[in-house]
Amino acid sequence: MTDGVLAGYRTLVTGASSGIGQGTAVAFGAAGARVAVDYRSQPDDAEETVRRIEAAGGEAFAVRADVSDPEAVSAMVEEVCDRFGGIDVLVANAGLQRDAPALEMSVEDWRTVLDVNLTGQFLCAQAAARRMVQQGPGAGPARSAGSIIAMSSVHDAIPWAGHVNYAASKGGVDMLMRTLAQELGPRGVRVNAISPGAIKTPINEDAWSTPEAERELLRLIPYGRVGVVEDVAAAAVWLASDAADYVTGTTLYVDGGMTTYPSFRDGG
Ligand code: BGC
Repeated sequence: MTDGVLAGYRTLVTGASSGIGQGTAVAFGAAGARVAVDYRSQPDDAEETVRRIEAAGGEAFAVRADVSDPEAVSAMVEEVCDRFGGIDVLVANAGLQRDAPALEMSVEDWRTVLDVNLTGQFLCAQAAARRMVQQGPGAGPARSAGSIIAMSSVHDAIPWAGHVNYAASKGGVDMLMRTLAQELGPRGVRVNAISPGAIKTPINEDAWSTPEAERELLRLIPYGRVGVVEDVAAAAVWLASDAADYVTGTTLYVDGGMTTYPSFRDGG
């Protein structure tokens, strides 16, 4: 595939075997990018992502790495650079939830979520940015030396009872992203975040899979519908492209208005 806003971009999407990561990888392929599809535990689902990209005429391969493991992350970025000759875009998307009331949360569940959602994003960004800085601006298809998109959440801003580990990890992603943007801007690397609201994926199936649950959820979404992965993927394609070349250090909320305090519609 040679046309599209990401034509020839060498990209890596972590956690691309399902949900937002899978949707983003497919959209990248459709926009002309070459896509490395990271997964940790679902090789068949990662292969399905690859198949969908190839079926649309794109190029992709699956690569296994646990993003919280520094050696595995280095090896993954090496492999991407060996196969593609460099890396232009990282979408640090892999993430998980281990929910529990704060007073009952185990330290293991706290650590697992921080390890994957925050340390994992740092490790992937560090490994990718090292290569991007070596490449320098304009060496690849993009005007920048490379760009990093951290997949965050509205819970980088909205506190979330019963999910203190997850909210803390996403709050951390905000400062990780903004500090990296400040530090890496002079080296030509753009760093941004996308904060999705409620998007229909396996991670939050309980919140939308029955009509009653969906009705409750919609009370939190002024725009009146639950999001789909394509809503987030379109934002990622734009942020990765040269159309967003002057955009760094910012968070794009893709949330149907969830961050507008909708419970204040009738009060306050
Ligand atoms: C969480 C989902 C949740 C959404 C909105 C996301 O970051 O992973 O479970 O539905 O935020 O609350």
